[in-house]
Amino acid sequence: MDTLTLIDNRTGKKYEIPIQNGTIRAIDLRQIRIDEEDFGLMSYDPAFMNTASCRSKITYIDGDRGILRYRGYPIEELAESSTYLETAYLVLYGELPTKSELDQWTHDVTYHTFTHENIKKFMDGFHYDAHPMGMLVSTVAALSTFYPEAKNIFNADSRKLQTHRLIGKMPTLAAFAYRHSRGMPYVYPDNELSYTGNFLNMLFKMTELKYEPNATLERALDILFILHADHEQNCGTNAMRGVGSSHPDPYCAVAAAAAALYGPLHGGANEEVLRMLSVIGSKDKVPEFIKKVKAGEGLLMGFGHRVYKNYDPRAKIIKRVADQVFEVTGKNPLLDIALELERIALEDEYFIKRKLYPNVDFYSGIIYQAMGFPVEMFPVLFAIPRTSGWVAQWEELLLDPEQKIARPRQVYLGEEKRKFVPIEHRKTAK
Ligand code: CMC
Repeated sequence: MDTLTLIDNRTGKKYEIPIQNGTIRAIDLRQIRIDEEDFGLMSYDPAFMNTASCRSKITYIDGDRGILRYRGYPIEELAESSTYLETAYLVLYGELPTKSELDQWTHDVTYHTFTHENIKKFMDGFHYDAHPMGMLVSTVAALSTFYPEAKNIFNADSRKLQTHRLIGKMPTLAAFAYRHSRGMPYVYPDNELSYTGNFLNMLFKMTELKYEPNATLERALDILFILHADHEQNCGTNAMRGVGSSHPDPYCAVAAAAAALYGPLHGGANEEVLRMLSVIGSKDKVPEFIKKVKAGEGLLMGFGHRVYKNYDPRAKIIKRVADQVFEVTGKNPLLDIALELERIALEDEYFIKRKLYPNVDFYSGIIYQAMGFPVEMFPVLFAIPRTSGWVAQWEELLLDPEQKIARPRQVYLGEEKRKFVPIEHRKTAK
């Protein structure tokens, strides 16, 4: 076995620590102590910059080379040849399904697209301008109250049922949130349509007896869903695992993951990209905007990534999908501004030095807007497909005998013990 030799210069003691899979175990540092009283050495790693929290077999990313694979399959091949539901099965169960497995899986998910009628009342309670992501986070948490048996998280059949429900119902909740914000009647699922075709139906159906999704847009959305299915230990997935580690039902854990996704540094970035492009307004204003970013006045949203220090492979695929979508919808005028931003940024020393490239969110919003989605729906469009990844990661967590309740340590730098001061003797701290 490979090992690491450490010498503690405080004591002169030497330690040999095993290296496995390119990692040392942080707990092995605990033996390094100056005396019996000492708690032992810890590693300090704010924002988990260099800490692996789990061993996983789901998603592989090589950030330097711009590689993303689900269960070993390159994202490019899945985007080309798979469907979202097939990819979700792969992410969840580790292998591509056979024809009969896929038929059964599609049936099981489709069977659960309807929600309890009370969910509609729940939706109705939200203010007319409630953000759809807030509505989605709340209603998915509310599902926990409809399925109390979901608490049986160590029962494989129960987990399977909740998985079908979660993947089946997320588009319905999302579409209801959208229709509510538009003041429009909810549309029930049409189980004869595909996963994304039905989602488009629930969003956009008007008076027609049967909604027929545009095949190009339906496929484009399906590809976008494939690209978003999982992305290893990102902020949302870390929330799923962190919350899941205390063993609540999966609806509560998914709500927590979706809440993490909502932030503008994560899945909320695509919404911010569109706002940014609209504020820039025209191609000729791009250099001025870049100058401000370099001066520290805000971020270039949709750029940069904790793991990718190269072009995000998903952004490359999305750029191609954009062309197909624009053939149907007409070009989104913001595309020219985005292309100019990318061109200038990729030639600029500031971005080159920091290895900042377009990420998945840079172009996805432009497509979504062209397809008729309001910007507030963008993070919701991220959360729907990410549900398969969250559930896969949650299941892996539960079945991993090494995992326990997630509970980091801290480095305490506050006051030492002191005596309580009665109020009449206190001085203002300022
Ligand atoms: N625009 C301008 N400068 C940036 C940007 C950006 N978008 N991103 C990073 N930097 C700079 C940052 O200021 C820092 O500079 P310096 O070394 O001079 O202090 C350097 O690059 C390193 O950045 P960091 O903040 O240490 O990197 P991080 O790994 O902590 O953050 C990130 C990653 C994605 C949060 C960040 O790049 C960012 O805020 N990007 C914009 C938001 C965004 O597009 N998020 C979507 C991420 S991909 C999809 C998803 O996760 O949902």
